[in-house]
Amino acid sequence: MMLALEEANPIEMLRQFCVYLNADLIEDLGAATLVLDNEKGKGRISIYELIPGLSAWIYDIVLEEELEIKAHFSKEKCYYFGYNLVGSQLQKFPEEAEYKKLHQHQNFIIISKPGEVSHFVVPKEIPYQCCYIIVNPKEMLASNIHSKTKLAQQLIETFEDTANDQMYRYFGDIDMRTRTYADILVNNTRTDIVGRLVTEAAVLNTLGSQIEAHDQDTQTDNFRPELTKEELFKISEMGDYVLEHISEKLNLRELSDHLQIPAKKIQAGIRFLYGCSANDYVTRLRLEKAKELMQTTAKNISEICYSIGYQSRSYFSKKFQETYGMLPSAYKSTLTKDRLFYEISYRSLAVPSIQEGDVDEIVQRARQNNLQFNITGCLIYHRKIFFQLIEGNKHDILSLYDKLCQDHRHTDIQLMWKGHKIKRDFDNWSMATLTDEKGLNVKVQGDIQHIELGNVLGNLSQNSLASESLWRKVRNTIKTSDSSGR
Ligand SMILES: Cc1cc2nc3c(=O)[nH]c(=O)nc-3n(C[C@H](O)[C@H](O)[C@H](O)COP(=O)(O)O)c2cc1C
Repeated sequence: MMLALEEANPIEMLRQFCVYLNADLIEDLGAATLVLDNEKGKGRISIYELIPGLSAWIYDIVLEEELEIKAHFSKEKCYYFGYNLVGSQLQKFPEEAEYKKLHQHQNFIIISKPGEVSHFVVPKEIPYQCCYIIVNPKEMLASNIHSKTKLAQQLIETFEDTANDQMYRYFGDIDMRTRTYADILVNNTRTDIVGRLVTEAAVLNTLGSQIEAHDQDTQTDNFRPELTKEELFKISEMGDYVLEHISEKLNLRELSDHLQIPAKKIQAGIRFLYGCSANDYVTRLRLEKAKELMQTTAKNISEICYSIGYQSRSYFSKKFQETYGMLPSAYKSTLTKDRLFYEISYRSLAVPSIQEGDVDEIVQRARQNNLQFNITGCLIYHRKIFFQLIEGNKHDILSLYDKLCQDHRHTDIQLMWKGHKIKRDFDNWSMATLTDEKGLNVKVQGDIQHIELGNVLGNLSQNSLASESLWRKVRNTIKTSDSSGR
């Protein structure tokens, strides 16, 4: 198997994996997971985009065949920090004859250069757990978040001389300290508020630990936290309790009573996991909750401020700005000013009387209306089944969906996904359409190609047409093609 991987934003890249492995893709805001369960293998690859310019890739997978990845770097210089938790992989640059082995528990760093290529081989038939932290220092610097811009600056200074104008590769020592953090990163599958903070802290700790190891270039395997694994686990889950009591004043003694762990150990555990004090950790949870409330409710900022346990709005604003680089009001307006898009995907059954000509009529009308509301999307009609994805401003999408639900030309409407996303997938399409008769012309890696619906769907039984994963696959195939034109 050889996957020619084009460097792009993390979700686009993961989608390339999905199409290649015929896997399922589950997207969330700032995160996505590829789920593989077919003849090519089993497991998952998850990505998290923590802030612009800082993302993590986590592999937890067993492949039936060796997978060769030819990664083609196209963005500006990015730093790849890799760590194999279980298993090993191979790497080489194109001009090299032999692959080099990246061992289990070994730190490795690659600094890319636009236009260059690196080959990787993921082994077959053995469990493979690995994390990659990818840093684009320029993008991070632009994020305006003080703690992160400092980190980006540090990285640039550390690697300035080593990686001026060529690809840089560093294979470090076996490093057991990084292992503790990478272990948390790979094994945390929660994507809610608590899970996100665990991931973010584990990413920063893995990164910090790798940079330190790179700087010292010495073995650090005598590092052991004083806490037991069970205690660390309990502390990492403590966020749930805090969130349940988020509107109250919380103190360390109460947390200690609840967890049955001495307060001092809780402090040490939080410092180990998140690199901050217990107070700062609780503040961070409050602020994440505030962000979630802004995304998902119509509450105003004062209401949110009080509901997460702050008495003073100005203090809340100050903390928010320190953490996210912008005031709560500015963050809220990024959500409302069309900066975030809303997507609904569903499938439905056409009523028996519907002919292809009727579908043309639906599409024509849809395109006229959608242009007016700046709605884009894609409609597939296959053997009496509609699949549609619509995207745009949340209010407009919800009201179109209401209309669609009342349309008598289809029945059995099943919602597959609804939620926010940062970017449209069908920017240039007021309604891209794929039908059995016509197929669709799309641009794939620069060339116009004709997609036949039958090729996308394969030989299907009526049963598999009802499966959600099939429609996700269709959606990913079309999204992977550069949907420009028409
Ligand atoms: C499968 C299907 C997909 C549709 N897609 C859209 C669409 O994307 N946009 C739209 O405005 N109407 C769409 N419609 C039509 C709406 O249900 C509704 O009839 C139409 O928006 C009413 O438009 P009007 O108010 O201009 O008469 C679709 C209908 C069906 C059956």
